[in-house]
Amino acid sequence: MELTGDEEKVLGGGSGPARELAMRILVNLGELEGADSLIPIVSAHISGVSYKTGGEGLIKMLERFHDDGGKVSVPSSLNPAGMDLDRWEGMGIDPAFAEKQGRIIELYSSLGVQTTCTCIPYEIFSRVHPVGFGDHIAWGESNAVIYANSMLGARTNREGAISCLASAIVGRTPNYGMHLDERRLPTIEVTIEGELTPLHHDLLGAYIGVNFNSEIPLIRGMGSPERPELKHMGAAMAAKGGLALYHVEGVTPESKRCDPSSFENNIKERVEISTEELSAVKEELYPTIDGEIDTFVIGCPQLGEFEFRRLNRALEGKALLPGKRILAFTSRDLLSSLDVELVRGVERAGVEIYRDTCMVVSPLDMMGVSRAGTDSGKAAHYLPRMSRISTELMPIEMIIEKATGPR
Ligand code: F3S
Repeated sequence: MELTGDEEKVLGGGSGPARELAMRILVNLGELEGADSLIPIVSAHISGVSYKTGGEGLIKMLERFHDDGGKVSVPSSLNPAGMDLDRWEGMGIDPAFAEKQGRIIELYSSLGVQTTCTCIPYEIFSRVHPVGFGDHIAWGESNAVIYANSMLGARTNREGAISCLASAIVGRTPNYGMHLDERRLPTIEVTIEGELTPLHHDLLGAYIGVNFNSEIPLIRGMGSPERPELKHMGAAMAAKGGLALYHVEGVTPESKRCDPSSFENNIKERVEISTEELSAVKEELYPTIDGEIDTFVIGCPQLGEFEFRRLNRALEGKALLPGKRILAFTSRDLLSSLDVELVRGVERAGVEIYRDTCMVVSPLDMMGVSRAGTDSGKAAHYLPRMSRISTELMPIEMIIEKATGPR
């Protein structure tokens, strides 16, 4: 890999040990992946925040960067932590866990990372440090990555916790994969027959993720999907498979600006799927669980303003039935930007709103949850695997119907 004089200097330790270590991580990664050079990035989004998933190893790595004087050199944000940073006691979190989680946040803060813990940086930071079409970035968290590549037209690989932190410190990333024009062309075409409901988007994402694990789909026949549906579709696709980019004809920026022949000529397989077929694959991808469900979790990816408005409307005049819970997850920045009445309306119905975290990276078992219903294909994929919680995927309307009655 060819390095500039400045990059060589950093690699040689001329800018201090933290930048040297970060540069070494990036050079090793770049050489492994066949990158020709490093390229500047405009932002980093760092995954690897929850103590539940990162454990002591994460604390040790951060302490090393901290002790070596590390500082990020581009705007850098943080993925959800393992708990609401203020209301963790109300979540039933063990104080020992809370202390470790607090230490992780403190260490990231000392490195200059913005500690708004969110997996929807594409919504939260759009005004502060917007990421635009063609921008190179280094983002972790698979839903954020696939959204940034697909919906913003920005360019990032699926970075791991260490590589995105190294990129944040150096301000560069190896030039390979999603950063290259030729690696962003669609390789399969998926044509939809019928009108998709919101839940169909999760099922479509999961279907593509399972069957076309490392492809780039061009999706046709979707009509004009809303942003929350595309968040869910991308999240399910990236959870079930290794995908980092999709194109939706007439919707995503690259499909609008592309040279149609270069898109067409790269496609090697074409499939059609109807909404009936998607409904039929639900049992295979997300089997129904037996018995009554008392807890429902929503906000994977974390809820944005559009979803809050929709939820508020759906809950009007309703309240949770005794013994039922709906746990909703969002970002504190998003929550504080919302109309107070909108948030009160959701809380008045009895929904518990948590910030800074999500149902997958927080220890839901400490909150007494062993079975759950969710409207998220990604959460329904991970909860049984990471938290041993029996989970059923269902539409948000069904969640509200099962959990509430008239106020
Ligand atoms: Fe976000 Fe957690 Fe889902 S990080 S995409 S809410 S698993």
